[in-house]
Amino acid sequence: MKVAFVSSEVFPYAKTGGLADVAGALPKALEKLGCSVKIFLPKYYSIDEAKFGLHYNWEIGEIPIKISSHTRSVHIYQAVLPESGVDVYFVDCPHYYHRDQIYTDGFDEDERFILFDRGVIEILQRLQWEPDIIHCNDWQTGLIPLYLKDNYGWDKLFKNSASVFTIHNIGYQGRFSKETVEHASIRSDLYFEGSSIEFLGDISFMKTGIMYADVINTVSNTYAKEILTPEYGAGMESFLVQRKEDLYGILNGVDYEIWNPEKDKFIPFKFSLNSLEGKFKNKKFLLEKFSLTADENLPLIGIVSRMAGQKGFDLFENAAEALLKQDAQWIILGSGEDKYEDMFRSINEKYPGKAAVYIGFNNELSHLVEAGADMFLMPSHYEPCGLNQIYSLKYGTVPIVRKTGGLADTVRDWHEYEHKGKDTGNGFSFNDYNPDALVLTVERAIEMFKDKDTWKAVQANGMKDDFSWEASAKKYIDIYKTAKKKRALQP
Ligand code: ADP
Ligand code: GLC
Repeated sequence: MKVAFVSSEVFPYAKTGGLADVAGALPKALEKLGCSVKIFLPKYYSIDEAKFGLHYNWEIGEIPIKISSHTRSVHIYQAVLPESGVDVYFVDCPHYYHRDQIYTDGFDEDERFILFDRGVIEILQRLQWEPDIIHCNDWQTGLIPLYLKDNYGWDKLFKNSASVFTIHNIGYQGRFSKETVEHASIRSDLYFEGSSIEFLGDISFMKTGIMYADVINTVSNTYAKEILTPEYGAGMESFLVQRKEDLYGILNGVDYEIWNPEKDKFIPFKFSLNSLEGKFKNKKFLLEKFSLTADENLPLIGIVSRMAGQKGFDLFENAAEALLKQDAQWIILGSGEDKYEDMFRSINEKYPGKAAVYIGFNNELSHLVEAGADMFLMPSHYEPCGLNQIYSLKYGTVPIVRKTGGLADTVRDWHEYEHKGKDTGNGFSFNDYNPDALVLTVERAIEMFKDKDTWKAVQANGMKDDFSWEASAKKYIDIYKTAKKKRALQP
Protein backbone atom coordinates (compact mmCIF):
# COMPACT_ATOMS: atom_id res chain seq x y z
CA MET A 1 0.00 0.00 0.00
CA LYS A 2 1.40 3.41 -1.02
CA VAL A 3 0.77 6.16 1.53
CA ALA A 4 1.43 9.90 1.17
CA PHE A 5 1.59 11.15 4.76
CA VAL A 6 1.00 14.88 5.01
CA SER A 7 1.65 16.87 8.18
CA SER A 8 2.51 20.45 9.12
CA GLU A 9 5.03 19.16 11.67
CA VAL A 10 7.23 16.09 11.77
CA PHE A 11 9.80 15.13 14.42
CA PRO A 12 12.82 15.63 14.30
CA TYR A 13 12.51 18.42 11.72
CA ALA A 14 9.80 20.69 13.12
CA LYS A 15 7.79 20.27 16.29
CA THR A 16 5.40 22.23 18.49
CA GLY A 17 3.53 19.27 20.00
CA GLY A 18 2.44 15.65 19.73
CA LEU A 19 1.47 15.83 16.04
CA ALA A 20 5.19 15.95 15.22
CA ASP A 21 5.88 12.85 17.31
CA VAL A 22 3.07 10.98 15.55
CA ALA A 23 4.17 12.09 12.08
CA GLY A 24 7.76 11.04 12.80
CA ALA A 25 6.79 7.62 14.15
CA LEU A 26 3.65 6.27 12.47
CA PRO A 27 5.20 6.28 8.95
CA LYS A 28 8.10 4.17 10.27
CA ALA A 29 5.67 1.67 11.79
CA LEU A 30 3.67 1.56 8.54
CA GLU A 31 6.81 0.82 6.56
CA LYS A 32 7.67 -2.04 8.92
CA LEU A 33 4.25 -3.48 8.13
CA GLY A 34 5.00 -3.37 4.41
CA CYS A 35 3.57 0.01 3.35
CA SER A 36 5.56 2.36 1.16
CA VAL A 37 5.32 5.81 2.74
CA LYS A 38 6.35 9.29 1.65
CA ILE A 39 6.12 12.15 4.17
CA PHE A 40 5.37 15.76 3.20
CA LEU A 41 5.90 18.88 5.30
CA PRO A 42 6.68 22.56 4.69
CA LYS A 43 10.33 23.56 4.63
CA TYR A 44 10.36 25.95 7.57
CA TYR A 45 13.25 28.32 8.09
CA SER A 46 14.14 26.59 11.38
CA ILE A 47 14.87 23.22 9.73
CA ASP A 48 18.59 22.56 9.79
CA GLU A 49 19.49 21.42 6.24
CA ALA A 50 23.00 20.23 7.05
CA LYS A 51 22.07 18.38 10.24
CA PHE A 52 19.27 16.46 8.56
CA GLY A 53 20.93 15.98 5.17
CA LEU A 54 18.37 17.80 3.05
CA HIS A 55 19.12 17.99 -0.67
CA TYR A 56 17.47 19.86 -3.48
CA ASN A 57 15.43 17.83 -5.94
CA TRP A 58 16.71 18.94 -9.37
CA GLU A 59 14.49 16.55 -11.27
CA ILE A 60 11.34 18.28 -10.12
CA GLY A 61 12.77 21.79 -10.24
CA GLU A 62 10.38 24.69 -9.95
CA ILE A 63 6.63 24.25 -9.49
CA PRO A 64 4.56 27.39 -10.06
CA ILE A 65 1.44 27.58 -7.89
CA LYS A 66 -1.12 30.33 -8.12
CA ILE A 67 -2.45 31.60 -4.81
CA SER A 68 -4.82 34.53 -4.93
CA SER A 69 -3.41 36.84 -7.62
CA HIS A 70 0.24 35.76 -7.23
CA THR A 71 2.08 32.86 -8.72
CA ARG A 72 4.49 31.44 -6.16
CA SER A 73 7.55 29.34 -6.96
CA VAL A 74 7.72 26.10 -5.05
CA HIS A 75 10.85 23.95 -4.83
CA ILE A 76 11.37 20.56 -3.27
CA TYR A 77 14.01 19.34 -0.84
CA GLN A 78 14.34 15.75 0.19
CA ALA A 79 15.77 13.73 3.07
CA VAL A 80 15.38 10.31 4.61
CA LEU A 81 13.67 10.08 8.00
CA PRO A 82 16.33 9.00 10.55
CA GLU A 83 16.40 5.30 11.40
CA SER A 84 14.06 4.41 8.56
CA GLY A 85 13.91 4.30 4.80
CA VAL A 86 11.04 6.77 4.60
CA ASP A 87 11.50 9.59 2.09
CA VAL A 88 10.58 13.04 3.33
CA TYR A 89 9.62 15.82 0.91
CA PHE A 90 9.95 19.42 2.09
CA VAL A 91 7.76 21.93 0.29
CA ASP A 92 9.93 25.02 -0.05
CA CYS A 93 8.55 28.52 -0.52
CA PRO A 94 10.58 31.08 1.47
CA HIS A 95 7.88 33.73 1.07
CA TYR A 96 5.59 31.67 3.30
CA TYR A 97 7.84 29.48 5.41
CA HIS A 98 10.83 31.64 6.31
CA ARG A 99 9.27 32.97 9.48
CA ASP A 100 10.15 32.74 13.16
CA GLN A 101 7.35 30.32 13.96
CA ILE A 102 5.80 27.22 12.43
CA TYR A 103 2.32 28.68 12.91
CA THR A 104 1.66 32.40 12.77
CA ASP A 105 -1.28 34.68 13.25
CA GLY A 106 -0.36 36.56 10.08
CA PHE A 107 -2.95 37.69 7.55
CA ASP A 108 -1.77 35.03 5.08
CA GLU A 109 -1.88 31.96 7.31
CA ASP A 110 -4.53 30.56 4.95
CA GLU A 111 -2.20 31.00 1.97
CA ARG A 112 0.67 29.21 3.75
CA PHE A 113 -1.32 26.01 4.01
CA ILE A 114 -3.20 26.35 0.72
CA LEU A 115 0.21 26.38 -0.90
CA PHE A 116 1.30 23.37 1.14
CA ASP A 117 -1.81 21.34 0.23
CA ARG A 118 -1.55 22.12 -3.45
CA GLY A 119 2.21 21.65 -3.37
CA VAL A 120 1.82 18.09 -2.08
CA ILE A 121 -0.56 17.17 -4.89
CA GLU A 122 1.62 18.78 -7.53
CA ILE A 123 4.70 16.94 -6.26
CA LEU A 124 2.83 13.64 -6.52
CA GLN A 125 2.00 14.56 -10.10
CA ARG A 126 5.63 15.39 -10.92
CA LEU A 127 6.78 12.13 -9.32
CA GLN A 128 3.99 10.24 -11.10
CA TRP A 129 3.62 8.38 -7.80
CA GLU A 130 0.09 7.08 -7.43
CA PRO A 131 -0.80 6.89 -3.72
CA ASP A 132 -3.41 4.44 -2.46
CA ILE A 133 -3.92 6.76 0.48
CA ILE A 134 -3.29 10.42 1.10
CA HIS A 135 -3.22 10.64 4.87
CA CYS A 136 -4.01 14.20 5.98
CA ASN A 137 -3.50 15.49 9.52
CA ASP A 138 -5.37 18.39 11.13
CA TRP A 139 -6.73 21.55 9.51
CA GLN A 140 -3.48 22.51 7.79
CA THR A 141 -4.10 19.64 5.36
CA GLY A 142 -7.89 19.87 5.28
CA LEU A 143 -8.20 21.11 1.70
CA ILE A 144 -6.47 18.08 0.19
CA PRO A 145 -9.53 15.77 0.26
CA LEU A 146 -11.52 18.45 -1.59
CA TYR A 147 -8.74 19.17 -4.09
CA LEU A 148 -8.45 15.47 -4.90
CA LYS A 149 -12.14 15.20 -5.64
CA ASP A 150 -12.52 18.53 -7.41
CA ASN A 151 -9.61 20.66 -8.65
CA TYR A 152 -7.39 17.67 -9.44
CA GLY A 153 -10.22 15.20 -10.03
CA TRP A 154 -9.36 15.20 -13.74
CA ASP A 155 -5.98 13.55 -13.11
CA LYS A 156 -6.14 9.77 -13.64
CA LEU A 157 -3.15 9.45 -11.29
CA PHE A 158 -5.56 9.89 -8.39
CA LYS A 159 -8.30 7.65 -9.78
CA ASN A 160 -7.70 5.09 -7.01
CA SER A 161 -6.38 7.41 -4.31
CA ALA A 162 -8.47 7.65 -1.15
CA SER A 163 -8.08 10.28 1.55
CA VAL A 164 -7.93 9.75 5.30
CA PHE A 165 -8.25 12.77 7.59
CA THR A 166 -6.93 12.47 11.14
CA ILE A 167 -8.17 14.94 13.71
CA HIS A 168 -5.44 15.51 16.29
CA ASN A 169 -7.16 18.48 17.84
CA ILE A 170 -10.60 19.82 16.98
CA GLY A 171 -9.85 23.05 18.85
CA TYR A 172 -7.77 24.41 15.96
CA GLN A 173 -9.92 24.65 12.85
CA GLY A 174 -8.27 26.85 10.24
CA ARG A 175 -11.18 29.23 9.90
CA PHE A 176 -10.79 32.10 7.43
CA SER A 177 -13.01 34.71 5.79
CA LYS A 178 -14.76 33.73 2.61
CA GLU A 179 -12.19 35.50 0.40
CA THR A 180 -10.01 32.50 1.14
CA VAL A 181 -12.24 30.41 -1.14
CA GLU A 182 -10.86 32.40 -4.05
CA HIS A 183 -7.26 32.37 -2.76
CA ALA A 184 -7.52 28.61 -2.65
CA SER A 185 -8.95 28.35 -6.18
CA ILE A 186 -11.96 26.52 -4.79
CA ARG A 187 -15.00 26.74 -7.10
CA SER A 188 -17.14 29.60 -5.82
CA ASP A 189 -20.33 27.55 -6.10
CA LEU A 190 -19.01 25.18 -3.43
CA TYR A 191 -19.32 27.98 -0.89
CA PHE A 192 -22.80 28.73 0.45
CA GLU A 193 -24.48 28.68 3.85
CA GLY A 194 -24.48 25.11 5.11
CA SER A 195 -22.14 23.81 2.39
CA SER A 196 -19.35 21.34 3.14
CA ILE A 197 -16.71 24.05 3.40
CA GLU A 198 -18.72 26.82 5.06
CA PHE A 199 -18.75 27.40 8.82
CA LEU A 200 -20.55 30.36 10.39
CA GLY A 201 -20.00 32.63 7.41
CA ASP A 202 -16.35 31.64 6.94
CA ILE A 203 -14.49 28.78 5.31
CA SER A 204 -13.20 26.10 7.68
CA PHE A 205 -10.33 23.87 6.57
CA MET A 206 -11.17 21.45 9.39
CA LYS A 207 -14.78 21.13 8.24
CA THR A 208 -13.63 20.69 4.64
CA GLY A 209 -11.38 17.80 5.67
CA ILE A 210 -14.17 16.22 7.71
CA MET A 211 -16.73 16.48 4.91
CA TYR A 212 -14.58 15.45 1.94
CA ALA A 213 -12.25 12.76 3.33
CA ASP A 214 -13.19 9.16 2.57
CA VAL A 215 -12.50 8.14 6.15
CA ILE A 216 -11.95 10.22 9.29
CA ASN A 217 -10.32 9.27 12.54
CA THR A 218 -9.11 10.79 15.73
CA VAL A 219 -6.41 9.76 18.15
CA SER A 220 -8.29 7.87 20.89
CA ASN A 221 -11.58 6.04 21.26
CA THR A 222 -12.89 8.26 24.01
CA TYR A 223 -12.14 11.46 22.06
CA ALA A 224 -13.85 9.94 19.00
CA LYS A 225 -17.03 9.77 21.09
CA GLU A 226 -16.51 13.08 22.87
CA ILE A 227 -16.25 15.14 19.68
CA LEU A 228 -19.76 14.08 18.71
CA THR A 229 -21.04 16.24 21.60
CA PRO A 230 -21.36 20.04 21.81
CA GLU A 231 -19.12 20.07 24.89
CA TYR A 232 -16.12 18.73 22.99
CA GLY A 233 -16.99 19.14 19.31
CA ALA A 234 -16.09 22.85 19.15
CA GLY A 235 -18.90 23.45 16.65
CA MET A 236 -17.92 20.51 14.42
CA GLU A 237 -20.12 17.99 16.26
CA SER A 238 -23.06 18.03 13.85
CA PHE A 239 -20.77 17.43 10.85
CA LEU A 240 -19.06 14.59 12.68
CA VAL A 241 -22.42 13.10 13.58
CA GLN A 242 -23.28 13.19 9.86
CA ARG A 243 -20.10 11.26 9.17
CA LYS A 244 -20.29 8.99 12.21
CA GLU A 245 -20.19 5.82 10.10
CA ASP A 246 -16.81 6.84 8.74
CA LEU A 247 -15.30 8.07 12.02
CA TYR A 248 -12.81 5.89 13.93
CA GLY A 249 -10.74 6.23 17.09
CA ILE A 250 -7.14 4.96 16.96
CA LEU A 251 -4.91 5.55 19.95
CA ASN A 252 -1.50 7.06 19.26
CA GLY A 253 1.52 4.90 19.91
CA VAL A 254 4.99 5.67 21.22
CA ASP A 255 8.32 5.43 19.46
CA TYR A 256 10.18 3.45 22.13
CA GLU A 257 13.45 4.00 20.25
CA ILE A 258 13.20 7.64 21.34
CA TRP A 259 11.12 7.52 24.54
CA ASN A 260 12.65 4.72 26.55
CA PRO A 261 14.57 5.04 29.87
CA GLU A 262 16.83 2.14 28.89
CA LYS A 263 18.30 3.98 25.90
CA ASP A 264 17.17 7.63 26.04
CA LYS A 265 20.17 9.62 24.78
CA PHE A 266 19.09 12.76 26.62
CA ILE A 267 19.18 11.32 30.14
CA PRO A 268 22.45 10.83 32.01
CA PHE A 269 21.39 7.69 33.91
CA LYS A 270 19.59 4.88 32.07
CA PHE A 271 17.19 2.73 34.06
CA SER A 272 14.53 0.05 33.79
CA LEU A 273 11.92 -1.64 35.96
CA ASN A 274 14.52 -4.04 37.32
CA SER A 275 17.08 -1.36 38.07
CA LEU A 276 15.32 1.80 39.15
CA GLU A 277 18.37 3.35 40.89
CA GLY A 278 19.07 5.43 37.79
CA LYS A 279 15.73 7.13 38.15
CA PHE A 280 16.63 8.77 41.45
CA LYS A 281 20.01 9.83 40.00
CA ASN A 282 18.19 11.57 37.15
CA LYS A 283 15.93 13.26 39.69
CA LYS A 284 18.95 14.56 41.56
CA PHE A 285 20.58 15.72 38.33
CA LEU A 286 17.39 17.48 37.22
CA LEU A 287 16.78 19.18 40.56
CA GLU A 288 20.38 20.35 40.80
CA LYS A 289 20.01 21.99 37.40
CA PHE A 290 17.32 24.15 38.99
CA SER A 291 19.17 24.59 42.29
CA LEU A 292 16.68 22.43 44.16
CA THR A 293 17.64 19.68 46.61
CA ALA A 294 16.61 16.10 45.99
CA ASP A 295 14.99 14.13 48.78
CA GLU A 296 13.93 10.52 48.37
CA ASN A 297 10.88 11.09 50.54
CA LEU A 298 9.65 14.21 48.77
CA PRO A 299 7.91 13.55 45.46
CA LEU A 300 8.81 15.61 42.42
CA ILE A 301 5.85 16.47 40.19
CA GLY A 302 6.61 17.33 36.56
CA ILE A 303 4.68 19.17 33.87
CA VAL A 304 5.75 19.41 30.22
CA SER A 305 3.18 21.11 28.08
CA ARG A 306 2.05 23.61 25.55
CA MET A 307 0.57 26.31 27.73
CA ALA A 308 -2.89 26.42 26.25
CA GLY A 309 -6.42 26.47 27.70
CA GLN A 310 -6.91 22.88 26.56
CA LYS A 311 -4.36 21.68 29.08
CA GLY A 312 -6.34 22.64 32.19
CA PHE A 313 -4.14 25.46 33.42
CA ASP A 314 -7.10 27.60 34.50
CA LEU A 315 -7.91 24.74 36.85
CA PHE A 316 -4.30 24.65 37.96
CA GLU A 317 -4.40 28.38 38.64
CA ASN A 318 -7.44 28.03 40.91
CA ALA A 319 -5.83 25.14 42.73
CA ALA A 320 -2.28 26.51 42.79
CA GLU A 321 -2.16 27.59 46.41
CA ALA A 322 -3.55 24.32 47.71
CA LEU A 323 -1.27 22.33 45.43
CA LEU A 324 1.88 24.15 46.34
CA LYS A 325 1.14 23.77 50.05
CA GLN A 326 1.57 20.00 49.67
CA ASP A 327 4.77 18.17 50.53
CA ALA A 328 6.13 17.98 47.01
CA GLN A 329 8.48 19.71 44.61
CA TRP A 330 7.55 20.89 41.13
CA ILE A 331 9.35 21.28 37.81
CA ILE A 332 7.34 22.85 35.03
CA LEU A 333 8.44 23.13 31.39
CA GLY A 334 6.29 24.82 28.80
CA SER A 335 5.51 27.72 26.56
CA GLY A 336 2.44 29.20 24.95
CA GLU A 337 -0.22 31.70 25.93
CA ASP A 338 1.05 34.74 27.84
CA LYS A 339 -1.43 34.46 30.68
CA TYR A 340 -0.28 30.93 31.56
CA GLU A 341 3.39 31.72 31.12
CA ASP A 342 2.89 34.67 33.51
CA MET A 343 1.05 32.49 36.02
CA PHE A 344 3.90 29.99 36.07
CA ARG A 345 6.52 32.72 36.28
CA SER A 346 4.81 34.06 39.37
CA ILE A 347 4.69 30.56 40.89
CA ASN A 348 8.43 30.34 40.25
CA GLU A 349 8.97 33.53 42.21
CA LYS A 350 6.53 32.77 44.98
CA TYR A 351 7.77 29.27 45.83
CA PRO A 352 11.57 29.26 45.71
CA GLY A 353 13.07 25.94 46.75
CA LYS A 354 9.82 24.22 45.93
CA ALA A 355 8.94 24.95 42.33
CA ALA A 356 11.09 25.68 39.30
CA VAL A 357 9.67 26.85 36.00
CA TYR A 358 11.33 26.86 32.59
CA ILE A 359 9.43 28.85 29.99
CA GLY A 360 10.43 27.77 26.49
CA PHE A 361 10.63 24.74 24.22
CA ASN A 362 13.44 22.36 25.17
CA ASN A 363 13.40 18.81 23.85
CA GLU A 364 16.31 17.58 25.97
CA LEU A 365 14.78 18.94 29.15
CA SER A 366 11.43 17.32 28.31
CA HIS A 367 13.17 13.91 28.40
CA LEU A 368 14.92 14.73 31.64
CA VAL A 369 11.66 15.77 33.33
CA GLU A 370 10.03 12.51 32.20
CA ALA A 371 12.97 10.56 33.63
CA GLY A 372 13.53 12.50 36.85
CA ALA A 373 10.04 13.29 38.09
CA ASP A 374 8.10 10.91 40.34
CA MET A 375 4.71 12.06 39.07
CA PHE A 376 3.49 13.82 35.95
CA LEU A 377 0.47 16.13 35.96
CA MET A 378 -1.96 16.60 33.04
CA PRO A 379 -5.24 18.11 34.27
CA SER A 380 -6.47 18.66 30.70
CA HIS A 381 -9.83 20.17 29.92
CA TYR A 382 -9.76 18.05 26.78
CA GLU A 383 -7.05 15.78 25.42
CA PRO A 384 -7.42 14.03 22.05
CA CYS A 385 -4.73 11.53 22.99
CA GLY A 386 -1.87 13.05 24.94
CA LEU A 387 1.58 11.55 24.64
CA ASN A 388 3.32 12.77 27.75
CA GLN A 389 1.26 10.59 30.09
CA ILE A 390 2.17 7.58 27.93
CA TYR A 391 5.85 8.53 27.95
CA SER A 392 5.57 8.97 31.74
CA LEU A 393 4.27 5.43 32.16
CA LYS A 394 7.38 4.02 30.50
CA TYR A 395 9.66 6.13 32.75
CA GLY A 396 7.98 5.01 35.98
CA THR A 397 6.69 8.56 36.38
CA VAL A 398 3.18 8.08 37.66
CA PRO A 399 0.63 10.15 35.73
CA ILE A 400 -2.04 12.21 37.45
CA VAL A 401 -4.65 13.14 34.86
CA ARG A 402 -8.16 14.32 34.26
CA LYS A 403 -10.16 11.43 32.84
CA THR A 404 -10.85 12.71 29.35
CA GLY A 405 -9.97 11.68 25.79
CA GLY A 406 -6.79 9.68 25.46
CA LEU A 407 -5.96 10.24 29.13
CA ALA A 408 -9.02 8.15 30.01
CA ASP A 409 -7.89 5.44 27.59
CA THR A 410 -4.33 5.11 28.92
CA VAL A 411 -4.36 5.90 32.65
CA ARG A 412 -6.07 3.50 35.04
CA ASP A 413 -6.69 5.02 38.46
CA TRP A 414 -5.00 2.98 41.17
CA HIS A 415 -7.95 3.14 43.54
CA GLU A 416 -10.59 2.53 40.93
CA TYR A 417 -8.76 -0.54 39.64
CA GLU A 418 -7.97 -1.88 43.11
CA HIS A 419 -9.76 -5.12 43.80
CA LYS A 420 -8.88 -8.23 45.77
CA GLY A 421 -5.16 -7.68 45.65
CA LYS A 422 -5.15 -7.69 41.85
CA ASP A 423 -4.19 -4.10 41.34
CA THR A 424 -3.78 -3.00 37.77
CA GLY A 425 -3.83 0.75 38.26
CA ASN A 426 -0.98 2.72 36.68
CA GLY A 427 -1.80 6.25 37.82
CA PHE A 428 -4.35 8.62 39.33
CA SER A 429 -7.27 10.32 37.65
CA PHE A 430 -10.29 12.51 38.34
CA ASN A 431 -13.49 13.19 36.46
CA ASP A 432 -14.86 16.56 37.42
CA TYR A 433 -13.24 19.62 35.96
CA ASN A 434 -12.93 21.46 39.25
CA PRO A 435 -10.00 22.52 41.43
CA ASP A 436 -11.07 20.43 44.45
CA ALA A 437 -11.01 17.22 42.41
CA LEU A 438 -7.55 18.12 41.14
CA VAL A 439 -6.20 18.88 44.61
CA LEU A 440 -7.69 15.73 46.12
CA THR A 441 -6.16 13.57 43.41
CA VAL A 442 -2.71 15.09 43.82
CA GLU A 443 -3.08 14.54 47.57
CA ARG A 444 -3.98 10.90 46.97
CA ALA A 445 -0.85 10.44 44.89
CA ILE A 446 1.38 12.15 47.43
CA GLU A 447 -0.05 9.99 50.20
CA MET A 448 0.53 6.84 48.18
CA PHE A 449 4.13 7.88 47.46
CA LYS A 450 4.90 7.37 51.17
CA ASP A 451 4.12 3.66 50.86
CA LYS A 452 7.18 2.60 48.87
CA ASP A 453 5.98 -0.91 48.02
CA THR A 454 2.63 0.18 46.71
CA TRP A 455 4.27 3.01 44.81
CA LYS A 456 6.62 0.56 43.13
CA ALA A 457 3.60 -1.53 42.11
CA VAL A 458 1.91 1.48 40.48
CA GLN A 459 5.15 2.30 38.67
CA ALA A 460 5.59 -1.31 37.57
CA ASN A 461 2.09 -1.49 36.09
CA GLY A 462 2.82 1.56 33.97
CA MET A 463 6.31 0.47 32.93
CA LYS A 464 4.93 -2.87 31.78
CA ASP A 465 2.21 -1.29 29.63
CA ASP A 466 2.95 -1.47 25.92
CA PHE A 467 1.87 1.41 23.70
CA SER A 468 4.23 0.71 20.81
CA TRP A 469 3.04 1.82 17.38
CA GLU A 470 2.66 -1.59 15.80
CA ALA A 471 -0.87 -2.30 17.05
CA SER A 472 -2.13 1.16 16.14
CA ALA A 473 -0.37 1.15 12.75
CA LYS A 474 -2.26 -2.07 11.95
CA LYS A 475 -5.50 -0.28 12.75
CA TYR A 476 -4.49 2.52 10.36
CA ILE A 477 -3.93 -0.06 7.63
CA ASP A 478 -7.45 -1.34 8.33
CA ILE A 479 -8.98 2.10 7.88
CA TYR A 480 -6.83 2.66 4.76
CA LYS A 481 -8.45 -0.48 3.32
CA THR A 482 -11.90 0.79 4.27
CA ALA A 483 -11.13 4.13 2.62
CA LYS A 484 -9.95 2.36 -0.55
CA LYS A 485 -13.20 0.40 -0.71
CA LYS A 486 -15.20 3.60 -0.35
CA ARG A 487 -13.12 5.24 -3.07
CA ALA A 488 -13.73 2.35 -5.42
CA LEU A 489 -17.47 3.02 -5.22
CA GLN A 490 -17.03 6.61 -6.41
CA PRO A 491 -16.86 7.68 -10.05
P1 ADP B 1 -0.03 18.32 22.41
O1 ADP B 1 0.20 17.72 21.08
O2 ADP B 1 -1.44 18.70 22.64
O3 ADP B 1 0.91 19.44 22.72
P2 ADP B 1 0.94 15.76 23.48
O4 ADP B 1 1.01 15.25 24.89
O5 ADP B 1 0.34 14.87 22.48
O6 ADP B 1 0.24 17.18 23.53
O7 ADP B 1 2.42 16.01 22.94
C1 ADP B 1 3.25 17.02 23.39
C2 ADP B 1 4.65 16.78 22.87
O8 ADP B 1 5.34 18.01 22.84
C3 ADP B 1 5.46 15.85 23.73
O9 ADP B 1 6.45 15.20 22.96
C4 ADP B 1 6.11 16.85 24.71
O10 ADP B 1 7.26 16.33 25.30
C5 ADP B 1 6.40 17.99 23.79
N1 ADP B 1 6.46 19.30 24.44
C6 ADP B 1 5.43 20.08 24.84
N2 ADP B 1 5.89 21.24 25.37
C7 ADP B 1 7.24 21.18 25.30
C8 ADP B 1 8.29 22.07 25.68
N3 ADP B 1 8.03 23.24 26.24
N4 ADP B 1 9.56 21.69 25.46
C9 ADP B 1 9.82 20.48 24.88
N5 ADP B 1 8.89 19.61 24.50
C10 ADP B 1 7.61 19.94 24.70
C1 GLC C 1 -2.82 17.07 19.54
C2 GLC C 1 -3.49 16.74 20.84
C3 GLC C 1 -2.82 15.65 21.64
C4 GLC C 1 -2.38 14.52 20.75
C5 GLC C 1 -1.52 15.06 19.62
C6 GLC C 1 -1.03 13.98 18.67
O1 GLC C 1 -1.99 18.13 19.56
O2 GLC C 1 -3.68 17.89 21.64
O3 GLC C 1 -3.71 15.18 22.63
O4 GLC C 1 -1.65 13.56 21.49
O5 GLC C 1 -2.24 15.96 18.86
O6 GLC C 1 -2.10 13.24 18.13
